[in-house]
Amino acid sequence: MKHLLKLEDWSPEEIIRTLNLADQLKYEQKHGIEHKLLQGKTLGMIFEKSSTRTRVSFEVGMTQLGGYPLFLSSNDLQIGRGEPVQDTARVLSRFVDAIMIRTFAQSEVEALAEYGSIPIINGLTDYCHPCQVLADLMTIREFKGKLEGLKMCFIGDGNNMMNSLIVGALSTGMSFSAACPADYMPPEHIMEFGKKYGDKFEIVSDLKQAAKDADVLVTDVWASMGQEEEKKIREAAFASYQINDDLLSVAKDDCMVLHCLPAHRGEEITAEVFEAHAAEIFEEAENRLHAQKAVLVECMLDREAQE
Ligand code: CP
Ligand code: NVA
Repeated sequence: MKHLLKLEDWSPEEIIRTLNLADQLKYEQKHGIEHKLLQGKTLGMIFEKSSTRTRVSFEVGMTQLGGYPLFLSSNDLQIGRGEPVQDTARVLSRFVDAIMIRTFAQSEVEALAEYGSIPIINGLTDYCHPCQVLADLMTIREFKGKLEGLKMCFIGDGNNMMNSLIVGALSTGMSFSAACPADYMPPEHIMEFGKKYGDKFEIVSDLKQAAKDADVLVTDVWASMGQEEEKKIREAAFASYQINDDLLSVAKDDCMVLHCLPAHRGEEITAEVFEAHAAEIFEEAENRLHAQKAVLVECMLDREAQE
């Protein structure tokens, strides 16, 4: 059974193969070539947090693949009233062909996979955001023509985005640096993952040291969903952790800027930098559609098992 629970579960070959399929599906969609690879299949989409991009891109993507997306809000599901995820997994496995879930704890996603009998796709947890990072890698490849040898630099919180970016960048031959406050570092096992790559992996507190000669600068909000009560403390801790023109001046001249969105202008990124790099940022948003269609095909048709 093929799932996407976290990016480190996928080999570099699986990641690249998915990016290749995403490019192909994007080309076909732009040229009006139908690809109803999931005709008659149903995707259950469980949301325990808000979403614009993830919901719409999975819903439209599943429709373009000839399947049926079923939006399931935790406000309406019995899961919201305490029904265990283990039971929800076993029930939904009898109705739908795969589940995409956005939730808080990574353990919920892992439990769905353990107790269910269908592919489970992580649409963001507090721990990681693998679908977003596949779209990010796709976008970098589109703009730069390659991943191998490029330097990605992340500015800000050691959160779900940074965790998946570390895995995604290093797995595909990029080097990864970050500027992150000491109290907001990624979890230890992600640090261990990074350390295996030696000097291709660096996390420092100095922004310019991290951003020096970067090919891609990435940032994310200071306070993620579920951290609303920490907003004030985080505003103080991250006050200087911003992508602005001064920081961009130490990166490569043709440095890209990515942001998973939603963005807070004037906080993690200035309005000027955001608008100057809007073409990259909104291509990144569009690529959620294409990358996730590839993930759906990979998991729901389990291409590897069929080869
Ligand atoms: N980037 C992202 O996942 O956006 P949404 O929260 O709108 O889904
Ligand atoms: N780190 C952000 C990403 C949103 C797509 C959050 O978890 O809220």
